[in-house]
Amino acid sequence: MTTTRTTTRTIDGTRIARGIRARVAARVGEIAHGGRVPGLATVLVGDDPASAVYVAAKRRAVREAGMRDIHRHLPHSVTRAEVAAAIDALAADPDVSGILLQLPLPPHLDAPALIDRIPPEKDVDGLTTASAGRLARGERGLRPCTPSGVLRILDAESVELRGARVAMVGWGELVGRPLAQLLLRRGATVTVAHEFTADLAAVTRPADIVVVATGVRGLIGPEHVTPGATVIDVGIHRTAQGLAGDVRAAELDGIAGRITPVPGAVGPMTIAMLLVNTLRAAEWGAGREAVPM
Ligand SMILES: NC(=O)c1ccc[n+]([C@@H]2O[C@H](COP(=O)([O-])OP(=O)(O)OC[C@H]3O[C@@H](n4cnc5c(N)ncnc54)[C@H](O)[C@@H]3O)[C@@H](O)[C@H]2O)c1
Repeated sequence: MTTTRTTTRTIDGTRIARGIRARVAARVGEIAHGGRVPGLATVLVGDDPASAVYVAAKRRAVREAGMRDIHRHLPHSVTRAEVAAAIDALAADPDVSGILLQLPLPPHLDAPALIDRIPPEKDVDGLTTASAGRLARGERGLRPCTPSGVLRILDAESVELRGARVAMVGWGELVGRPLAQLLLRRGATVTVAHEFTADLAAVTRPADIVVVATGVRGLIGPEHVTPGATVIDVGIHRTAQGLAGDVRAAELDGIAGRITPVPGAVGPMTIAMLLVNTLRAAEWGAGREAVPM
């Protein structure tokens, strides 16, 4: 019996992200000469350690891009009215191009209502009702960072999307749902699977591209992937051995055509796209077209 083995290429998302961040920084430098430096305001409520790490990484990236880093850290006991007032003040501040409300919020706060206080022009996470509506209608707007980052990875790898069969595993609000729409707009044939999908492998096996965003560690393995397919792992899990994803990557070596590592692909691209969105918000806010990054 002969078995055909594919050479699996590990996608270097960190390198792709670095290139985008360098282009953003160069453009910020140009803008800073004659106009207002783009600024990102991060709002962190409470002391969740993972959220603190994510916000710190985003703020560092903002400063490295030469942008203004504005931060509001509110205590866990803050009221909904106080968070709303903080968002309203940032919304009115011309030095603030984008506002990021770090999730999850403590349960006593009404997260959807607070997210929707962010004006769509400053909604760099792309999570407001207005931004979701603009995405659904194909109108100009800020798109969620992780889905945008996945598209940029596929583009950087010259993966053809038009006509491609994509299995989108997970339809969460942050990743799967917006990403399925973005892929459809790029001409892919998208099948969305979720926790109630009866036969997951039957959905993923025919796919040219499998994107996984479920929050279930190691969900996807060789039984789900056709030889040569591109596999994008959005999952992030902290384990004793370090970060892990929703895909059993080691088992796909020799099967997948390309695969994103965890860490080292979707995470860095999410931060890069946050910078792109902040720059875009600043350009649009100044009445200019955004330069492609
Ligand atoms: N890399 C990044 O920057 C980044 C950003 C956002 C989210 N994430 C990660 O992506 C993952 C998903 O995030 P989310 O916010 O979309 O999650 P979510 O909880 O909103 O959605 C999870 C989705 O997975 C589906 N699902 C659950 N179990 C399943 C199963 N057994 N089979 C098939 N589908 C199943 C659910 O039906 C749901 O649609 C998480 O691991 C999260 O940590 C990573």
